Amino acid sequence: MSDNHQLSRRDFIKGATAAIGGLIGALIGIPSAAYLLSPATQAGGEAEAVIALGTLDNYPIGVPTRFDFTQTKVNGWERTATNYGLYVVRKSESEVRVFSDVCTHLGCRVTWHPDQKHYISPCHDGHFDILGGVVSGPPPRPLDEFTTKVENGNLFVQLPAFRRTA
Ligand code: FES
Repeated sequence: MSDNHQLSRRDFIKGATAAIGGLIGALIGIPSAAYLLSPATQAGGEAEAVIALGTLDNYPIGVPTRFDFTQTKVNGWERTATNYGLYVVRKSESEVRVFSDVCTHLGCRVTWHPDQKHYISPCHDGHFDILGGVVSGPPPRPLDEFTTKVENGNLFVQLPAFRRTA
């Protein structure tokens, strides 16, 4: 009888120790796991940002002028740096448009060729006019464009670029 009593006390202490240990583990472990996993559950998607391109006077009227920058995006625990190349085209004192340098065929980087007055993709010889419209080659649509804003003489673009159909 006394042995049985001792055994059940031992079992009680074992059980209580396990329960308290489990409770402490849960109190510490669940918030820690939630903290560690929360970035991985956040949605990725394209980076949204407003980028300052400097004063509008830096960009001559009628001449596509290149602007490059790098944008870092955090997706969960992954940090990705993306290089952007833009062409700023001022049509007049007040009208400005900004195009992506990513060819709409397979993503090669176009460059402006002043002698031909075309952006040319080096991969499959895709040609675009000064406003990014397709002139020749395999590109299926015009160069993507950025929404612009001019404030106090300074030019800003909104990421990501938007698709154009014609
Ligand atoms: S990637 Fe530009 S023409 Fe193919």
